[in-house]
Amino acid sequence: MEVVISNGSRLLLVQGDITEQTTGALVNAANSSLMGGGGVDGAIHRAGGPVILEECRQIVSRQGRLPAGKAVITGGGNLKARYVIHTVGPVWRGGQAGEPELLASAYRESLHLAAVRGIESVSFPSISTGAYGYPTGQAAVIALRTVLDLLAQRSSVREVTFVLFDARTLHIYQDALKELTALEERTAG
Ligand code: APR
Repeated sequence: MEVVISNGSRLLLVQGDITEQTTGALVNAANSSLMGGGGVDGAIHRAGGPVILEECRQIVSRQGRLPAGKAVITGGGNLKARYVIHTVGPVWRGGQAGEPELLASAYRESLHLAAVRGIESVSFPSISTGAYGYPTGQAAVIALRTVLDLLAQRSSVREVTFVLFDARTLHIYQDALKELTALEERTAG
């Protein structure tokens, strides 16, 4: 599914493995240690090779652990993507511990780092909806609304792709995107 917004920027939803993407930057759903893990984190480090972990180690030694909602950028190692943006989503604790704001911040900070580097295309996984337990339907609305708002602003990022690992997650994001764009059409009058 693809949405083209007023300034020509595009948002795409695809099913697949994010490590296969050829976009300018992949976003990794990391943890605060930046020392790798399972899920997307494991896949990106496996496919990208040890050079990414080494860069992460240097970042942590310089600035300490990465708080939830923040992001850092490294090279892409053996990946087709030139960069990896590592961000930490919130662990779901029932929704009253600032999770929605932290999740939106993870997307916002990641796109900000891409724009600062003049990167034109970015691929995101469904941050926090795996090991971190964020309900996918709620996460999808936050992710898509945050990205649509930022794509509408002037920046080098012209295309964002959500790479969803399974059909269930893809369908949830598709439904959320239809809702959000229908809503915008109605409010646009
Ligand atoms: N490509 C795209 N999406 C993937 C891939 C992949 N190769 N592997 C897993 N996913 C999906 C999951 O199915 C889920 O929908 O990414 C989404 C996020 O799941 P996680 O990777 O578990 O990320 P998250 O929920 O943010 O938890 C982060 O898990 O791997 C550890 O080190 C990581 O501690 C951190 C935590």
